[in-house]
Amino acid sequence: MQSSDNRPLNVLALCGSLRAASINAALLRAAARIAAPGADIEVADWLGRLPLFNPDLENVVDDRELPRAVKALHLAVDAADAILIASPEYAHGISGTIKNTLDWLVSFEPFIHKPVAVVNVSPRAHHADDALRETLRTMSAGLVGEASFAVELLGAHMDEDAMAASPAVADVVAQAIAALRAEIGRRASGDIPVFPLR
Ligand SMILES: Cc1cc2nc3c(=O)[nH]c(=O)nc-3n(C[C@H](O)[C@H](O)[C@H](O)COP(=O)(O)O)c2cc1C
Repeated sequence: MQSSDNRPLNVLALCGSLRAASINAALLRAAARIAAPGADIEVADWLGRLPLFNPDLENVVDDRELPRAVKALHLAVDAADAILIASPEYAHGISGTIKNTLDWLVSFEPFIHKPVAVVNVSPRAHHADDALRETLRTMSAGLVGEASFAVELLGAHMDEDAMAASPAVADVVAQAIAALRAEIGRRASGDIPVFPLR
């Protein structure tokens, strides 16, 4: 479903780090606080419960046979107007957590052309950012460049509260939400090809 009216934008935030003190997770939680009430950002903090991707597990006749966490992921993606992804770089690649999450979405039709923004909390770590964008393009996600941003938080020693209070973070989050809204608005007005988003 797309938000072309004044209701809050429903954004699903996927974090590629499972670390308790994750900078990526803190940024996503801070973004949720900054963006409210105009956007409702739900941080999926349960991606570690997804089983390792196995095509055999998704080839089920009845959706109810899917692993519970996979079904929850599908429902959350389907319900979201847009997706926000923040993933650390591990050994010049994206984290296993985010790759595993995306692998579960490769064959999930509602993800195709879904507006997606990517966040990089360490601009010098460009390998993971490049790889993430390549994977998303390959999956035909609706990557929104204007909504994607890098913000130098690695080594900044900022917790979630400090990020939520930071004017610089507030600026990029506001810009990202505005760009996602604009993209969704363009689709609704027919400015660009409209794809069957559910
Ligand atoms: C196993 C591992 C591999 C890493 N590899 C890289 C790397 O290749 N390039 C880089 O810039 N940072 C690398 N880092 C640093 C992380 O990207 C950085 O600590 C990031 O903040 C972790 O995200 P988080 O705070 O959300 O957990 C690595 C960290 C770990 C634990």
